[in-house]
Amino acid sequence: MLNIALPKGRLGDQVYELLASVGYDCKSIYDENRKLVFENEANGVRYLLVKPSDVAIYVEHHAADVGIVGKDILMESNPDVYELLDLGLGKCRMCVAAKEDYVEDRDRPVRVATKFTNIAKEHYAALSRDIDIIKLNGSIELAPILGLSDVIVDIVESGNTIRENHLKILEEFLPISARFIVNKGSFEFKNEAIRTMAGRLSAAVQEREKREEA
Ligand code: PRP
Repeated sequence: MLNIALPKGRLGDQVYELLASVGYDCKSIYDENRKLVFENEANGVRYLLVKPSDVAIYVEHHAADVGIVGKDILMESNPDVYELLDLGLGKCRMCVAAKEDYVEDRDRPVRVATKFTNIAKEHYAALSRDIDIIKLNGSIELAPILGLSDVIVDIVESGNTIRENHLKILEEFLPISARFIVNKGSFEFKNEAIRTMAGRLSAAVQEREKREEA
């Protein structure tokens, strides 16, 4: 049995559809209930529905064998897991954004609001730019509007949140997509099952990319 940490929400739905299409379906996952564990013994899979930001924690600590998680979360938390595949789903990018009329004052540190404090620190360290970090947990776009920060470092997907809050993108510096990650011990002890799953996923991703290019 492979234990799969699946992120709850839109990305998780897309990833589940992909897994189901290559032989790992588990119909009961569509049941309307508050269950968090679903299994299909015949296919050898047990799905664990977890918060997207917790997927890597479950996999690193061996509560799950494999998981699907955004590159943003991997970069931020740097878990001790194998990253086997780029699934090409949930594509977005890490950006710096500010109010439309923002002008940088280079004589003082930039005040940066973000959920991704490590990514933001690394980004500005590479630019040799001093910053003051303000850690938030959501609705990041509010910070510059209210004067809590000068800029934000956050993910942008459609760009709607930025536009509708009258912000502008100053920099895009990290493309993001969903990754298939594996616990290091599981990769040793359930190697065949994991390689089979990764092989099927990889073939399906290549097929989809070919179709998209055509
Ligand atoms: C994320 C992110 C942006 C938004 C970007 O927030 O933090 O706010 O999505 O998407 P868009 O470019 O398509 O508008 P999320 O919806 O996860 O909510 P949060 O504010 O709780 O972080």
